[in-house]
Amino acid sequence: MRRPSEQEHSSRPSLTALRVAALRRSFDRVPWPNGRAGDEDRLAAALLDDAGALEPTRSTPEGERFRRYLSERTRFFDAFVVDAIAAGITQIVVVAAGYDGRALRYATAGVTFFEIDHPDTQAHKRRVLDELGISTDGMQLAAVDLSEASVSTALAGTSFDSSLTSAHLIEGLAAYLTAPDVERLLHDLRSVSAPASRLGISFPGRASPTAGSVALAQRVAALGEPIQLGVTGDAFRALVDRAGWTIVAGSAATPNLVRADAG
Ligand SMILES: C[S@@+](CC[C@H](N)C(=O)[O-])C[C@H]1O[C@@H](n2cnc3c(N)ncnc32)[C@H](O)[C@@H]1O
Repeated sequence: MRRPSEQEHSSRPSLTALRVAALRRSFDRVPWPNGRAGDEDRLAAALLDDAGALEPTRSTPEGERFRRYLSERTRFFDAFVVDAIAAGITQIVVVAAGYDGRALRYATAGVTFFEIDHPDTQAHKRRVLDELGISTDGMQLAAVDLSEASVSTALAGTSFDSSLTSAHLIEGLAAYLTAPDVERLLHDLRSVSAPASRLGISFPGRASPTAGSVALAQRVAALGEPIQLGVTGDAFRALVDRAGWTIVAGSAATPNLVRADAG
């Protein structure tokens, strides 16, 4: 597959999303009896050519730490989706989906995955799915720049029904938005969430920078996706609360992953 060139920098698909999808391919996943895990694997394999060149840190200590964190994060969001489907939720909203393949892996009759991301990434993902002949049954892709428009505007162009309970995943996005943008996003999602809807979100966790977190920040900035969020830990949890969500659970493995309910 053709790798986006530097000339396309301002209008290219997300390189961090490509990299995460490629890394995720080697992780153990939460099983699901049906679904189309093979299609997710085909998608990730097709993206490897693009992502391979972006993976310089795998053998360094901070690269390994990031890998371990991503593995826990993957397990957390896999379980979040599986639990939601098992609870009878039929609308899964994947905000900043990137190349997330859960809509394929956990495809279930009667469940719709609404994937939202920046127009450049959405266009590329759609093209790769088409080229591979992967069915998008049960998936609806909506494009929006979340620093400019709301997620509810994007959902309005889909069959999303705000009177039905939904589960929202926001994985690996918060760091790339400002705190006010994240708060606005969570408020907005809350406004279209029926009672008993759920939110799963990851956020950067270190109040003071470490060598590893500085290296990671420099790496993603070099990819054209600089970290913007200035709050971590308790301040982030307070932001979730202000946006109308009640945090009900976290990951035992890392404090950077929380589940919240709409009440
Ligand atoms: C690190 S990737 C995570 C992708 C996916 N959630 C995952 O974990 O595989 C960050 C994602 O956020 C998206 N993103 C960042 N800023 C955005 C914005 N302003 N509007 C829409 N999407 C954005 C990128 O396009 C990218 O897909």
